[in-house]
Amino acid sequence: MNAHNSIRRCFERGSRLYDDNTPVQKEIAELLLARALDSRAVTEERGRILELGCGTGTLTGMLCEIFPSAAVHALDISENMLSVAKARCNASNISWICGDMSGFDDPEGFDYIVSSSSVHWVGDQKRIFARLNRLLKPGGRLIISTMGEGTFAELHESRRQVLPHKLPSRQLLPHTRLLGLIQNAGFRVLHDSEEKFQQVFPGVSEFLKSMRASGLTGGDLSHDDRLLTRGELSKLIARYEQDHANPQGEVPVTYQVSFVSAVVAEQAECNPN
Ligand SMILES: C[S@@+](CC[C@H](N)C(=O)[O-])C[C@H]1O[C@@H](n2cnc3c(N)ncnc32)[C@H](O)[C@@H]1O
Repeated sequence: MNAHNSIRRCFERGSRLYDDNTPVQKEIAELLLARALDSRAVTEERGRILELGCGTGTLTGMLCEIFPSAAVHALDISENMLSVAKARCNASNISWICGDMSGFDDPEGFDYIVSSSSVHWVGDQKRIFARLNRLLKPGGRLIISTMGEGTFAELHESRRQVLPHKLPSRQLLPHTRLLGLIQNAGFRVLHDSEEKFQQVFPGVSEFLKSMRASGLTGGDLSHDDRLLTRGELSKLIARYEQDHANPQGEVPVTYQVSFVSAVVAEQAECNPN
C-alpha cells in the first residue's frame, strides 16, 4: 500500500474519535489563526480561501466565522473526516472537496491557502510547496502550521535505541529546512515561529492507543514497508517508559510545530535556483 493510501485509511478509521484524542492539534489551529491575524497576514475578509487537510473541521469553522464573506474550500483526503466536518459546520460559504492535496488543481486560484497539522503528511515537501505557490493568485498568502522534526521526539529516540533497523522511512523537517523549501517554492516569508507543545499520558500504551484512535499512525512517518511485530512494540514501550516515565508512570509526548505565513513573491524577488 502506498503512503497516501495508508494515511487515508488511518484517518478514515480515526474520524470518529479524532476530536477526543487531539487537544494539541486544536490548540495549534487556534494559535495559527491568532498568529496570522496578529502578523496581519490576513488583511481582507473577502476572497477565496483553500483549507488543506481540514479534518473534522475545527479550523474550517473558525475560518467561516472570521471570514463570513469569503468562499471557503475545505479539502481532505478522507471522506469520513469530511463527514464529521460537514456535521459540525454548515455555513453556506463552505465547499467540501474530497481529494489529495498533492494533486489538487484549480484554475481560478486562491487568495489564501490555510492549513493546520496537515501539510507534513505529504511525502514530497518540495513539490507540495511549489504546487501551493501555483494555486495562489499573485500576492496570495500561505498560512500554515505543520509538525516539525522534534514531534514525538521521545518515541523516535526510544525507537532508535531499540529498533535501529526498523525506523520510519521519512522524518519530519527541521524548521530552517521547511523555511528554505517554502522560499525556494517562490514565497516571501512574513512570519515564522517554532513552538513545542507537551501532552502527558498515563503510560506509553495509552499514548499509542490514542494515536491509533485518531488516525495518526499511517504512512511513511510511522513506519517503513514493514509494521512492528508485537515483540518489537513491547521493547519500544519498555524503553520509552524506562527513559521518560515519571515515578507515577506518566509519560510526556512532545510536538514541535512550525508556524509560517508567507506571500507569493514577485518575480524579481524569486531565487533563480
Ligand atoms: C492531523 S489531521 C489535521 C486535521 C485538522 N486540520 C486539525 O487541525 O485538526 C490531518 C488531516 O489531513 C488529511 N490529509 C492527510 N494527507 C492528505 C492529503 N494528501 N491530501 C488531503 N488531505 C490529507 C487527513 O485525512 C486528516 O484529516
